[in-house]
Amino acid sequence: MQKIYLDYAATTPVDKRVLSEMTPYFGVKFGNSMSLHSFGRAAKIALEESRAVLAGFINADLNEIIFTGSATESNNLALKGVALKNKEKKHIIISSIEHPCIVESSEWLKKQGFEITKIPVDKYGTVDTEYVRRAITKKTILVSVIHASNEIGTIQPIEKIGKICREAGVYFHTDASQSFGKILIDVKKMNIDLLTASSHKIYGPKGAALLYIRKGIMVEPVLHGGGQENGLRGSTVNIPAVVGFARAVDIYKKEAKKENARLIKLRNNLIRKVLKIEDSHLNGHPEKRLPNNANFWFDFIEGESLIMQLDMEGIACSTGSACSSFKLEPSHVLMATGLRPEQAHGSLRVSLGRQTTEKEINQLIKLLPKIIKKIREISPYGK
Ligand SMILES: Cc1ncc(COP(=O)(O)O)c(C=O)c1O
Repeated sequence: MQKIYLDYAATTPVDKRVLSEMTPYFGVKFGNSMSLHSFGRAAKIALEESRAVLAGFINADLNEIIFTGSATESNNLALKGVALKNKEKKHIIISSIEHPCIVESSEWLKKQGFEITKIPVDKYGTVDTEYVRRAITKKTILVSVIHASNEIGTIQPIEKIGKICREAGVYFHTDASQSFGKILIDVKKMNIDLLTASSHKIYGPKGAALLYIRKGIMVEPVLHGGGQENGLRGSTVNIPAVVGFARAVDIYKKEAKKENARLIKLRNNLIRKVLKIEDSHLNGHPEKRLPNNANFWFDFIEGESLIMQLDMEGIACSTGSACSSFKLEPSHVLMATGLRPEQAHGSLRVSLGRQTTEKEINQLIKLLPKIIKKIREISPYGK
């Protein structure tokens, strides 16, 4: 059976061109970028060239990019690092649809005595910007809002939120793990102070991510060590992964326009056809959403059963965030958009990518109504 992968929001395969760029750095160019000899210098050059590519891509300066090992780490560093450096103020604002690594970091900060406010979203998952304005107090240090939802794909009015924060003298962080490499980002134009991006969501390797920190913003390190990355992230830098991350961005720059148009066409066709299934609904914003994301909920359906049945047919989708797949609670993101628990349990996320073909989407469109009918016939939710 030919397998069909439709879970690109969870992770992407490494592009062959990325892999070939990385390969020498596992062998002949294996040096430690902190070493003074020629091996170290070669690694340092590769590191700084990669930094230049990534900085240029989001209109940042070279020394504003810190490499980390994952988006989770970047998000932890952003929240904890900024909060701990400004602990006399004690107030952090996040949206109610953040990734678990932001939610858990804020829970940790709460235990350290910080106050956390969660901003509500509307039925499409869009943050209420006026609520952000009103939630900011004299004690607020940082606002963190995900750029595009990993579950429902909704894109937030980041530039506007950034402007509100800038005017109020509050730092603004955005988790751009899903949008980076899909939507153009300009940190200056969008009033962003800190930004998280990840390599393995854009056909780069796992083990590399970045945190953009605007010049002048003080951050307390989370990983203490040998002074790497401006003293903000101790640990030998994963040079092969960082080189791969930069190459993945290079490829995106050349191919994005055509590829995004292709994905939007496939995705819109999928949405149109799936919504013809009785009692089916779209999650997320109808237009302001990631080009590769479709997310549905079906009445009288248990999402996990749907995923299992699709998997048996060789199709890999997800109910929502990969990190939450083993949790029994309904998605906090879907609940924030106003769904009831049983509705949120009936969700299906389909995320398309570079290898997705029209034939694959048609296969899903063909199978889905049959599987849904079968599950509904035995559903405990009753139809
Ligand atoms: C929006 C968002 N933030 C953070 C992460 C965490 O990424 P990682 O598990 O690679 O650290 C993910 C991964 O799914 C994500 O989608």
